[in-house]
Amino acid sequence: MQRKRISLLIVTACLVGSAAVAGNYSTEATIFLQKDEGELNVDVRVSQLVDQNNKLVEQLLFAPRIKTAPGVPASIYAGPAHTDSEYASKENVTVDVSWPYPNESGTAFCAVIIKRGDEVVSKSKLQLKIEGPGRVPLVVAAQEIDPKSVRVVDEKTLTYVLLEFAGKTREEVKKLALDNYGNKVQIRDFVMSVLVWLPGQQSPVHGHEVWCAYGVVEGELTEEQYRAAGNRIEPAKTAVLRAGDIADLDVDRRVIHRVCNRSDAPLATLHLYGVAAERLTTGINRLYPLGLDQPS
Ligand SMILES: [Fe+2]
Repeated sequence: MQRKRISLLIVTACLVGSAAVAGNYSTEATIFLQKDEGELNVDVRVSQLVDQNNKLVEQLLFAPRIKTAPGVPASIYAGPAHTDSEYASKENVTVDVSWPYPNESGTAFCAVIIKRGDEVVSKSKLQLKIEGPGRVPLVVAAQEIDPKSVRVVDEKTLTYVLLEFAGKTREEVKKLALDNYGNKVQIRDFVMSVLVWLPGQQSPVHGHEVWCAYGVVEGELTEEQYRAAGNRIEPAKTAVLRAGDIADLDVDRRVIHRVCNRSDAPLATLHLYGVAAERLTTGINRLYPLGLDQPS
């Protein structure tokens, strides 16, 4: 296994805010490219700098790790759940990683946003030129899935797990979609996908190039919704959905959101996208790779 350390970033960020909550944080992000395995690993360490006897001491808050494949954006959250009573008073961190598709030149990003509740207290960003050697799909898709039969069968990789499912015909899926969404969308060319999210895993912030609908099969989902504000986006609301719940239907391609598993158990979600199957991995999402900073 060829393991290559690409870059190391150390950022110390001064904070804004009241004296009662002000402090300093140290963010380190280390990116490893495992070329033979076509895998990118990002190790992040977020520490709080505390004054002890006139010496600055680092107290580790979070050490999340992200594994992803070339060209596949990834994101992870560490901290209290949105519904936790300590959510507003304790730090949480979101790490977003994106990098070029294979055989394309481009820039890889690693953005680390530290918040206390919903308030941003520190932002750090690493970016570097990178060439990707190839990728594997993050999305596990199937034309025929019975959502009731979805079970997590493999937790060996941190990137994704495969699913076990039994058949439901394409016609049955079409009927399901029509029953749920009526004539709001044209159910002609569509793909159904099941995604499994391990605790802490989440999607990048994104909009959709096609109509889409999704719901929760198993577990608890936290959805962060954003709204456009000029050429920026800003947080709009956060919703928690559970098994059987169906999220807002995005017919007009206006939804901008992040899908998150902030629970302690695996989460399975079922998605319908108005797109041809061969465009599943490239034709759906419009990414906002730096979260709150800049639409791509
Ligand atoms: Fe989405």
